[in-house]
Amino acid sequence: MTLPWKHIPILAGEIADFILTEPDGVYVDGTLGLGGHAKFFLSRLGPKARIVGFDKDEEALAMARENVSDGRLTAVHASYTQAAQTLAELGLPKASGALFDLGLSSYQLDNPARGFSLLRDGPLDMRFDLSASLTAEKIVNEWGLADLERILLDYGEERNAHAIAMAVMAARREGKITTTFQLKNIVERVVRGRGKIHPATQTFQALRIAVNDELGCVERVASLLPDILKPGGRAAVLTFHSLEDRLVKTRFKEMAAGGQWKLVNKHVVAPSYEEVRRNPRARSAKLRVIERV
Ligand SMILES: C[S@@+](CC[C@H](N)C(=O)[O-])C[C@H]1O[C@@H](n2cnc3c(N)ncnc32)[C@H](O)[C@@H]1O
Repeated sequence: MTLPWKHIPILAGEIADFILTEPDGVYVDGTLGLGGHAKFFLSRLGPKARIVGFDKDEEALAMARENVSDGRLTAVHASYTQAAQTLAELGLPKASGALFDLGLSSYQLDNPARGFSLLRDGPLDMRFDLSASLTAEKIVNEWGLADLERILLDYGEERNAHAIAMAVMAARREGKITTTFQLKNIVERVVRGRGKIHPATQTFQALRIAVNDELGCVERVASLLPDILKPGGRAAVLTFHSLEDRLVKTRFKEMAAGGQWKLVNKHVVAPSYEEVRRNPRARSAKLRVIERV
């Protein structure tokens, strides 16, 4: 079927080569999205293979089910942090491989109603899970100066965190900040862009990470893996910014030092020039893979 939104799976062939170690194995797709990777993996797997795909976003799951349309896929509305419990509930053994393709999909970014993009006017939402209570609007209108500044620094690495947080506090005294363009304009008034990067890029990144507890979930991947992978099983993590990549690199190194895990690729794998030319959103992707010994 043709989806109304497109998301091209990144490094799909490389990830399949790394993690699909058994044709009829069980696999976890921690971030199913529109099912691009899952569909590709199923084209390489045998008739008895199973993929359990997780997403916090029910809209994405509905599209993934249509896009993949394969009885070997079970799509679950939950955080990937629930993966071990879900495998057990489904009566499945530990997995031969797992993928965590972090961040958001092109569908979420390009859909103005979701409020992720500073290029499209929409409500300040930014939730992956539309049933969750915390939105970007809540943070921007209700959080105190210190907390706003902290997330801009910690999740946006924004050097103008204080000035932006002050500007948000001043603007909200004039009225509620409810749209992406309102926030973008507030940031533009106090920060100049660097090169091609829009001045509000890091603010939007910080809010998105805070709304979805993204780094908290990534942090939990390391402790999760022993419960979802069998010996010989491999996990691939695809990151899109330095905060996530540093976290994954550090945790994987710690795991490998313990002797029960080994790094499959000593150096990070990045998309080829050709892949980035075809799919510019692949440009900042970094892949790390670890194996349970
Ligand atoms: C980059 S997209 C995945 C795209 C997918 N690999 C594909 O090829 O279509 C990331 C997806 O992960 C979801 N997500 C992010 N954090 C999650 C979490 N902790 N648990 C489950 N899903 C999550 C987002 O809602 C988004 O749909």
